[in-house]
Amino acid sequence: MSAFLDACRARPTAYTPIWIMRQAGRYLPEYRKLRSQVDFVKLTRTPEFAAEATLQPLRRFELDAGILFSDIMTPLEALGVEIAFTPGPSIAEPLRSRAAIEALALRDEVAPFVGAALRIVRAALTQDIALIGFAGAPLTLAAYLVEGGGSKEYEHFRRFLRSEPAAMHELLEKLTDLSIRYLRMQIASGAQAIQLFDSWAGLHDLQTYREFGLPYNARILAALADTGAARIYFALGAAHLIQAIAEIPAEAVGVDWRTDLAAARARLPGKALQGNLDPALLFADRSTITAEAHSILDQGRGGGHVFNLGHGIWPATPIDAVAHLVETVQAYARP
Ligand code: CP3
Repeated sequence: MSAFLDACRARPTAYTPIWIMRQAGRYLPEYRKLRSQVDFVKLTRTPEFAAEATLQPLRRFELDAGILFSDIMTPLEALGVEIAFTPGPSIAEPLRSRAAIEALALRDEVAPFVGAALRIVRAALTQDIALIGFAGAPLTLAAYLVEGGGSKEYEHFRRFLRSEPAAMHELLEKLTDLSIRYLRMQIASGAQAIQLFDSWAGLHDLQTYREFGLPYNARILAALADTGAARIYFALGAAHLIQAIAEIPAEAVGVDWRTDLAAARARLPGKALQGNLDPALLFADRSTITAEAHSILDQGRGGGHVFNLGHGIWPATPIDAVAHLVETVQAYARP
């Protein structure tokens, strides 16, 4: 019924399904209009607004899936952490001591407004459009929580991981428990697939990722195995971690634009691939977009493939280019 869900499970599809990371957002004038009336936190916390933002790109483009409009930081409130958006996440009191981590207590209810938003969206979609929920991977959430916000080097975070490894593991355990509860709630509320975003996995070497990243990602995704939801793991700038990523219990793995899809295919046996057009390529002329999309579609053969960008769409992206990409991908028959 859904080409996207079929592709995640490597079942044959007539064409390669497509959705776009950050497809709801500032490149859409209708999103900017909504945001001029409501701040970002209120948008994410009000089910009707979050559902509206989720549906906006689906009205404009014939995408094969919608993704919940929210943020990876949204569920952290259930651990008692306060977060502002400026527009990236900003934490007033970064977690830089064992005591601060021990004080985090998981509440029973994790972001119930997200479940309400998902139910509204699922009821508005036809069966051929899949609904994707998501969460941030523990090590990526920890990067923001310890650093206090986005950063180039994540110096505070990487220093804390080295100086207080036991405290870091305790934080990752708590984030893992939170994420399992949060994702199971999303699936029970209508999400048919979930994506775990590990945007900062690439900061780490293989051994560090094996100790602080992989076990927690694997525990979260294994805890969803009985739900029947398709599981997608996406790490950015993580080509050097691919042998560990191959061990993650997920149906599909997102590949960023720097990694060749055919090379990823060889190193991720049994996994569907998702990706991987360079977000900057949407600023090229139409014939270049067509040629690059076709090249990626050809590379994606030989297993399940969901077309996507190699990372989130940029706010300045021309809308016509997005429309052209979606049409090009869906018009290209899969042999
Ligand atoms: O994909 C979608 O359409 C759903 C919406 C979505 C948002 N954030 C909305 C958002 C998703 C899936 C996310 C995930 C997210 N958030 C990630 C993982 C994906 C990635 O890009 O690596 C990360 C690292 C974050 C943390 C975050 N939140 C950042 C870095 C920012 C600033 C982004 C920017 O471009 O300035 C945010 C804020 C945010 N999250 C915005 C949106 C639409 C902008 C807020 C606004 O409208 O003012």
